[in-house]
Amino acid sequence: MIFEIAPGIFYVGALDFERRLFDELIPLPYGTSYNAFLIKGSEKIALIDTVDPSKENVLIDNLKKLKINRLDYIIAHHAEQDHSGVIPVVLKHFTEAKVVTNAKCKELLQKLLLIPEERFLVIQDKDTLSLGNKTLEFIFAPWVHWPETILTYLREDQILFTCDFLGSHFASSELFVTDECRYYDSAKRYYAEIMMPFRTNIRQHLETISNYQIKLIAPSHGPLHNKPEFILNAYRDWTSDQVKNEVVIPYVSMHGSVKAMIDYFSDQLISLGINVKPFNLTVTDIGELAMALVDAATLVIGTSAVLTGPHPQTIYIAYLVNALRPKTKFVSLIASYAWGAKVKEKIVELIPNVKAELLDGVIIQGYPTKDDFTKLENLAEKIKEKHKNLGII
Ligand code: FEO
Repeated sequence: MIFEIAPGIFYVGALDFERRLFDELIPLPYGTSYNAFLIKGSEKIALIDTVDPSKENVLIDNLKKLKINRLDYIIAHHAEQDHSGVIPVVLKHFTEAKVVTNAKCKELLQKLLLIPEERFLVIQDKDTLSLGNKTLEFIFAPWVHWPETILTYLREDQILFTCDFLGSHFASSELFVTDECRYYDSAKRYYAEIMMPFRTNIRQHLETISNYQIKLIAPSHGPLHNKPEFILNAYRDWTSDQVKNEVVIPYVSMHGSVKAMIDYFSDQLISLGINVKPFNLTVTDIGELAMALVDAATLVIGTSAVLTGPHPQTIYIAYLVNALRPKTKFVSLIASYAWGAKVKEKIVELIPNVKAELLDGVIIQGYPTKDDFTKLENLAEKIKEKHKNLGII
């Protein structure tokens, strides 16, 4: 599909309604899109990003439909292949075109896509590039989730092209965000999975772009924002240091002991006025879990033991939580073993990036006794006290 999003500026990207997994890791319940944009200036023509290699034909067909027979620049915001993967094909079609990017992105594109040196035009932070009646200003935004990312501000039209930043894995035939409720979850899921580990950097980028007049935000995934404050406010909330009165409880229970403890513990928390988000790891969509970690004050991991350590599903999730670096303030553990385990030590080893206070957990042998349920009540009370001290309850 092609849309003229403003005079001389065209959406030429591709929708991918059917994709269900990204990076062979991240579930995509609503598909995704790879947004690319063509800007026709009075003197020069620029393409903003390309698309995933699986959608090469869509991009090339869109350029043909627009009768583009000359292209001066390909702006490469980010070297990851879902945006850069078709650059080599576009360079073959348009032999005069230069890839405009920063030195770090150039280095990555040379490694990932074998683009030759002479095809690059390297720019610096805040450099501008004139297309005649349109001016592109480049804003470096390292660590959106890779080290090289750039945003582009189109001055005359006040459009900010943000690549992954402020985007979502959400395939929609509507160009702009219309159903904000439905969109919100996709955007939060995307932030949680991709950007949460770089929360501090993201906050800086929000600060940087607050200096620009922005009419339209055009990310490289998902619909565009013609009401920018909606997504900017959401990001301000997610990246803030504020946590919510919530306990996220990822757990796995082999023979019912852990499940009995998690159920009892969850009921206790609810009765104390604390929101709970339990996730049975054998059936959990990791995107849902990541989303829950964006806000929660507390994380309590529940696990059975396998051999002498935690269940492998728990190890996987602990590794993932560590990678996502949520702003969680408190962490604890509920576990059951049959004949011996070093569950606590191994979980603690796996989450050094989670800068949270470790609360004494409840680690038992076998099925929980009356005493164990009392310990769970005490843990719930302790969490309530901690949340109260934070002023969130
Ligand atoms: Fe959408 Fe980091 O690529």
